[in-house]
This record gives sequence, C-alpha cells and structure tokens, in this order.
Amino acid sequence: MKIIRSPEEMQQEALLLRGNGRTIGLVPTMGYLHEGHLSLIRLARERANAVVVSIFVNPTQFAPNEDLTRYPRDFVRDEALCQSQGADMVFYPTATDMYLPDHSVYVVEESLTSGLCGASRPTHFRGVATVVAKLFNLALPQVAVFGEKDAQQLRVIKRMVRDLNFPVSIVPGPIVREPDGLAMSSRNVFLSTEERAQALCLRRALDRAEELFRQGERKTAELLRNMQEVMAQCPAARIDYIECVDDESLKPVTEIGKPCLIAMAVFVGKTRLIDNTVLRAP
Ligand code: PAF
Repeated sequence: MKIIRSPEEMQQEALLLRGNGRTIGLVPTMGYLHEGHLSLIRLARERANAVVVSIFVNPTQFAPNEDLTRYPRDFVRDEALCQSQGADMVFYPTATDMYLPDHSVYVVEESLTSGLCGASRPTHFRGVATVVAKLFNLALPQVAVFGEKDAQQLRVIKRMVRDLNFPVSIVPGPIVREPDGLAMSSRNVFLSTEERAQALCLRRALDRAEELFRQGERKTAELLRNMQEVMAQCPAARIDYIECVDDESLKPVTEIGKPCLIAMAVFVGKTRLIDNTVLRAP
C-alpha cells in the first residue's frame, strides 16, 4: 500500500492507474477511522480494482469556533486499518499543500445547503464541496463512496457531480452503528461515559418516529413532537435541529407522501452528533 503526501504525485499515480485500465474507487475521509469507514473501503473494493483512501482533516469545512484543532487524529492506526482492508493507496496531504495561501476558488451548492446542517454551519458545505472536487481532480476516481450518516453531504455531493458533470459514480454506504444503536462517528471519542449513555437518545428518537410511521402516522409535526419527547429524557442533549424534509429537495414537509428524510443534529455535552433515517411509504 502506497502512502502519497503530495497532490501532484497523487494525480500522477491516478493517471498511471487509469492508463493501465484500472478503475479507481475513492473513499474520502478525515481519518480516525472506525468500522463505518472500513465498510466504505470494502464497498469501494467491490466496485473498483484500485482503492484510494484520502485522509485529510479539511480546514475549510470548519468554522473558526468549531473543533478543527481538537478533531481526533491517529495516522499510524489509520494506515494499518487501510492496509487491513486492502486499500491500494492512502492519500494524506497537508493543509498547506491542498490550499495555497492565495487559494480563492470554491464550489458552492445553492439550494440543498440552505437548511439542516447548512443552517447551523453556513460555510461547512462550501468547504466540503470544494475539497471533494479537489480530491476528484487528484485521485481521478470513477467511483467514490460516501456514508449515509452524512445525509445532507451525500446529497450535496451527488448534486455537485450532476451539475458540474464530474465523471464519477457516487456510491452511498449504509450507516454503521454500535451494538446499542449509536451511529459510529470519529467524534464519539469525545463523549464521557455519561454522555455516551445519553447519546443513545438520537437513535431512540428516530426509532420512535419510524414506529409511528409504521403505524400510519404521516403528519411530520406529530413525528417531531414525539421525537422531542424522547430527547427531553436526556438532559445532556441539546437539539441543534430535528427536521423532516423531502428526501430529494431537502425542503421541509408537513405530510409524508414521497420519501422523507428525518435528519437531526444534537449536542451531547460539547460534541455535535448527527443521525438520520429515511421514511418511505410501503
Ligand atoms: O465526511 C467526511 O469525512 C468529510 O466531510 C469529507 C467528505 C471527507 C470531506 O472532507
């Protein structure tokens, strides 16, 4: 497995692979890998015969008050995990190589990013779309895998690929959960024992909404009221947002007809966690 640090070298290696007829599968990550990421690497391996994992804590997707410097990092462990999953290359650039001091071009999605995480983190998706566009231009993948936990991110990337004609097929990877239901996230490491226990309220609130939906409830106000009731049982949890939105447009819905994304972001202590589910009428 090759470790590549320079963006130019990444592009050269990708061109060589393409020249040799290989299909490149990219798994973009910010490192501190967990089973969720490893499942994405396995998905990439099923669809491509050269797998590149990028590990880059992208500064442009963090606002000044967010946890960029605190974000967990452990490259030695990540490298071993990538190797164990049969990745062919790890792209591990520095921020100064990825962003020159006078970097001035960004990718901005102007519709899907207005609500949900985009409302509470107004510059976040500009950073995500920009770095993913750069990674696509450097690793030249035909296939790229993104986790469904970041539901809005996945939809923004798909829209970017569609609207800017990137020749990349986007493969979604299902959310991977701890045995007790907590969605895996690199940020879970920040949770104290007490907070870890209270973080289960996200999954419980989604379970309640799914159950009501199965029983025939279609009014989103009722689903949201019930979810808030569940969340109220966890005093360490502060809701950033819980919303029911159309799965395609990400605009709020009041009555569920078409597939509906219930997305939530919750601070448990200082740690911001996200989770979601998609409700589809049978
Ligand atoms: O989902 C993430 O880890 C990041 O947002 C991504 C896609 C690697 C871009 O930095």
